[in-house]
Amino acid sequence: MPEYFTIRWLDGHVQMIDQRLLPQEVVYRDYIDVEGVAEAIHTMVIRGAPAIGAAAGYGLALAAWHSRTGDAALMHAELMHAANVLRASRPTAVNLFWAIERVLRNLDARTPGSVDQIREIVLAEAQKIADEDIQTNRQIGLNGQALVPDGARIFHHCNTGALATVGYGTALGVIRAAHEHGKKIHVYVDETRPRLQGARLTSWELKQLGIPHTVVVDGASGHIMRTVGADLCLVGCDRIAANGDVANKIGTFNLALAAHAHGVPLYSVGPTSTVDLDTPNGDAIPIEERPASEVTHVGECQVTPDGVQVANPSFDVTPARYVTAIITEKGIAYPPYLESLAGLKKGN
Ligand code: MRU
Repeated sequence: MPEYFTIRWLDGHVQMIDQRLLPQEVVYRDYIDVEGVAEAIHTMVIRGAPAIGAAAGYGLALAAWHSRTGDAALMHAELMHAANVLRASRPTAVNLFWAIERVLRNLDARTPGSVDQIREIVLAEAQKIADEDIQTNRQIGLNGQALVPDGARIFHHCNTGALATVGYGTALGVIRAAHEHGKKIHVYVDETRPRLQGARLTSWELKQLGIPHTVVVDGASGHIMRTVGADLCLVGCDRIAANGDVANKIGTFNLALAAHAHGVPLYSVGPTSTVDLDTPNGDAIPIEERPASEVTHVGECQVTPDGVQVANPSFDVTPARYVTAIITEKGIAYPPYLESLAGLKKGN
């Protein structure tokens, strides 16, 4: 069993594994304020939609924990400011906004009278978000088993494992559960340019779990599907619109097109907290544009001529018609998604 953790609360600190350094170095960083947590999200010390959500919850808890005010109204105002700092860190994964709203809604519902009560309520909800994430992912893993045959050759994009969550993983959780159920699977791991979450993080996790895998460059999926074959694609999601359009790591749409051309099903995997019924379709999902240096450089090494023009959208939208089904902890949604996703969200 892997012995690392992605994020945890410890005595008024938030600790995170620095995912920028993996797999070469395993370094944990300590955070004591919301600005530090927002910076960790923005610079991708922590990444992956559910992990970002958990970090946001803990970020609010830090703001309350270390506040020096004795005035409950003032602390409430400080929390509103902390929420805005966190909201500005990354725009695409809806889990960030979902976690912030959940903590603040819970606080408002409890109408606390003292700063100590506020501290307690905020931390308890942040901890609940983190704890629930692992249970949710285990359930997603189980729900996905109906779609993973023994002997499956599976394409996977980016990193959706324990590192992208508080624990266990979503799409990688389905893969992990298949392995735990004794299925003989093989995973094709997209390297996932430009940040190489597949090559660096997914292969690191799969290696520790003893799950057979092959790392491929992103452009290899069509060739491998045509020559070797594939049985399914399992990918994560950062925001699922009400109509089933799915935002995920850049390159997911290309993988979906290759899969569609070869009759390979593509399943989007995530918690229902990633389903955003307030976003009608993929065009309404904000797509993060990241620094050009992520494209011009591989590590410290510049690979483009000086001054070249770069576009670096960090996510893309796969239209719902290329998404065979959406696997969540509450069940599997099939098209038409407008009805099936609304049905799954009910009771949230
Ligand atoms: O930029 P990242 O690494 O945060 O992007 C991560 C992804 O796109 C994941 O597929 C998604 O967040 C789901 S993680 C369970």
